[in-house]
Amino acid sequence: MNTDHVTIEPRILYFGTPVVLLTTENPDGSCNLAPMSSAWALGNVIVLGLGRDGQTAHNLTTRPDLVINLPAPEQWREVERLAPLTGRSPVPASKQHGCRFEPDKFGAAGLRAEPSERVRPPRVAGCPLQFEARAVSVRPDASGLFVIVEAAVRVVHADPRIVVPGTQHVDPGAWSPLIYNFRHYFGLGSELGHSYRSETVTQS
Ligand SMILES: Cc1cc2nc3c(=O)[nH]c(=O)nc-3n(C[C@H](O)[C@H](O)[C@H](O)COP(=O)(O)O)c2cc1C
Repeated sequence: MNTDHVTIEPRILYFGTPVVLLTTENPDGSCNLAPMSSAWALGNVIVLGLGRDGQTAHNLTTRPDLVINLPAPEQWREVERLAPLTGRSPVPASKQHGCRFEPDKFGAAGLRAEPSERVRPPRVAGCPLQFEARAVSVRPDASGLFVIVEAAVRVVHADPRIVVPGTQHVDPGAWSPLIYNFRHYFGLGSELGHSYRSETVTQS
């Protein structure tokens, strides 16, 4: 038996993944905006885990366009303002206590929309990375409580300050995601090293 560890039963397993802000299109053509952190890349596809009852999941089932906006660590307060809000009315019983319907999430968060190029929902201005995408698969997870979305990225917009000049590369030293770490927000610490496959190593 390993005596260095204790067995615990944490209520959540959010071990630290980047926060993204998803914009999707509501049935009336308006835009919904929602934070989420169960997101990861598989080639040019971003895989998303979304609560089945949320407005974002509903929107993607019938209107597949979306933008996956990646906020910077400094934008955590705007993200957190969105936390108790849903674009779904009436608010589903499965939503946590205190959750309320908000049709204007941009206004509530103090964020600004800017038009997308290839999809209908807008981008979130001020997010250093914005991926315009289309949901190519939306299916229930094994529990039935979530949907798993595969979103194929069509165009990537990057703040020039996080791009290695003259290249197509994001500069890992200039970009930091906002990390959701057991319901607390963090940025990245300083670099520890790099993969042998890195294309952005600078010699010093
Ligand atoms: C930082 C953060 C991360 C979140 N991550 C997820 C997630 O990965 N999946 C999810 O379904 N909800 C996640 N949520 C909760 C949703 O944002 C919340 O359910 C919201 O009401 C969804 O809005 P909607 O109903 O308008 O789509 C997260 C919330 C915050 C603040």
